[in-house]
Amino acid sequence: MEEKQIKKLIEMALEVREKAYVPYSHFRVGAALLCGDGSIYTGCNVENASYPASNCAERTAVFKAVSEGKREFTAIAVMGGMEGMKKLEDCTPCGICRQVLAEFADESMLVFTGTSPENYRQYTLAELLPHSFTGKNLQ
Ligand code: THU
Repeated sequence: MEEKQIKKLIEMALEVREKAYVPYSHFRVGAALLCGDGSIYTGCNVENASYPASNCAERTAVFKAVSEGKREFTAIAVMGGMEGMKKLEDCTPCGICRQVLAEFADESMLVFTGTSPENYRQYTLAELLPHSFTGKNLQ
């Protein structure tokens, strides 16, 4: 992937992170999902007083994209960190989000984490979720 596009995804993830609704954890996460057709969907985490009803940023982005007819995903940038912290920490997707990404993306999908467009790490989904259980197992 081109450096310019990676930086753009990270910037969009940082921007949507500001919209996170996190009155309980105060941990803000933003995600920007690049689809096969070049479109980008963003998402933030949305928490709930009934904690398990909360939704992660990555799944918000995936569900927005799928509900707009997109099913092919190339990459996702995830930026997370505690509210008010000067510097973010590396925030890799949780297990549930890795599983949701695996439903729609192949193993070569790229996942970018890090702290800024200048300081990021790149993983494949296969690295983050090896030996995944997918729809193929149910055929
Ligand atoms: N969270 C995300 O949105 N994405 C992740 O990859 C890790 C965790 C959210 C869930 C919850 O709202 C808060 O961060 C603390 O777990």
